[in-house]
Amino acid sequence: MAKLQNSAGQPMRQQSHRMVIFIAIFILMTLLILYSSNNNNESIYTPFNVAANNALRSTDLKKWAGKDGYVPVYGNKNMSLHCRNCALVTSSSHVLGSQAGEEIDRTECVIRMNDAPTLGYETDVGNRTSLRVVAHSSVFRVVRRPNEFLRHSDSNSMIIFWGPPNKIGKDAKGTLYRLIQRVSMTYSNMSCFSVTPIKMRRFDSLFHRETGRDRQKSHSWLSTGWFTMVMAIEICDNIKVYGMVPPNHCGKKSVSKKMPYHYYKPRGPDECVTYLQNESSRRGNHHRFITEKQVFARWAKQYNITFTHPKW
Ligand SMILES: *[C@@H]1O[C@H](CO)[C@@H](O)[C@H](O)[C@H]1NC(C)=O
Ligand SMILES: *[C@@H]1O[C@H](CO)[C@@H](O)[C@H](O)[C@H]1NC(C)=O
Ligand SMILES: *[C@@H]1O[C@H](CO)[C@@H](O)[C@H](O)[C@H]1NC(C)=O
Ligand SMILES: *[C@@H]1O[C@H](CO)[C@@H](O)[C@H](O)[C@H]1NC(C)=O
Ligand SMILES: *[C@@H]1O[C@H](CO)[C@@H](O)[C@H](O)[C@H]1NC(C)=O
Ligand SMILES: *[C@@H]1O[C@H](CO)[C@@H](O)[C@H](O)[C@H]1NC(C)=O
Repeated sequence: MAKLQNSAGQPMRQQSHRMVIFIAIFILMTLLILYSSNNNNESIYTPFNVAANNALRSTDLKKWAGKDGYVPVYGNKNMSLHCRNCALVTSSSHVLGSQAGEEIDRTECVIRMNDAPTLGYETDVGNRTSLRVVAHSSVFRVVRRPNEFLRHSDSNSMIIFWGPPNKIGKDAKGTLYRLIQRVSMTYSNMSCFSVTPIKMRRFDSLFHRETGRDRQKSHSWLSTGWFTMVMAIEICDNIKVYGMVPPNHCGKKSVSKKMPYHYYKPRGPDECVTYLQNESSRRGNHHRFITEKQVFARWAKQYNITFTHPKW
């Protein structure tokens, strides 16, 4: 009898053992799925999480603005651009296929960045440029193609150069500043301005106030997009942004398709990879593209900024 019980009890115990393991695995899996779907949240990629920080107070950029923040590179022009309606055309590949060219060209002022070309992309990005915001690191690429970037049919086209004062400032007598000077003498139909050192510092403190992070201590670099958005708010009553993704875009699981970072570099890096890597990088200085967009989303509620391709 004892033998029988034993031989019957053994498989029973084994079975309940298996049951326990099975249940444990089931619970673990469920937890994992729950956990990952919870963390499938954009915020995991945005260590700054501006959106969740209610302590931050937004700056009134219309008051913050001051045209004295820009000095002419040559001559004594004033930076006095004001537009009722602006099209801010980003360099993202999201503009491709938008067919927005005609709508952009109909807008009073068209703003572009760095060496984003129009030639060959007119259907999607249009062919007019009122203002081009150029980073110190993009100067050479812009100057190399004067027909594309410097000879404008728009009689009052403008370029604003931004960069560290030791590179782009009036007192900087380096190669870069001399190059910019030569360009603005040669292409006198265009008005060239550089951001003053004081204004550069104000861009930094604006970032600090809007994100709660000190730009330098957090090893962040401001992007041309940051400068351009702020300038656009200064200059324009209404802004329509083409090709900018919302801040949570790259954290979504549904985003798997590769989208080039720049529309004019189809074989270049992927946009989301560039955004996510920069956002989470700790070593060295990096752009905080996603954090910046969280701030843009806040500004969009304060000023008349609309986003299209994609809409948000
Ligand atoms: C995910 O996002 C939602 C809405 O933005 C938020 O309410 C929720 O707390 C977030 N969850 C996590 C785990 O971050
Ligand atoms: C630029 O502005 C200053 C003062 O605001 C003015 O005196 C000067 O005439 C202006 N220059 C031009 C070219 O408009
Ligand atoms: C580009 O410019 C020409 C005139 O210079 C215009 O006819 C055309 O409609 C413009 N827009 C596009 C999208 O090509
Ligand atoms: C500069 O503008 C004048 C008239 O405003 C125009 O005739 C000339 O072609 C322009 N030059 C360049 C290089 O665009
Ligand atoms: C906001 O801007 C859009 C164009 O960007 C314009 O159509 C709309 O009328 C503006 N709204 C207000 C309230 O000014
Ligand atoms: C950060 O962004 C820049 C573009 O501004 C890119 O060149 C660089 O590779 C990115 N860094 C990382 C780590 O992805």
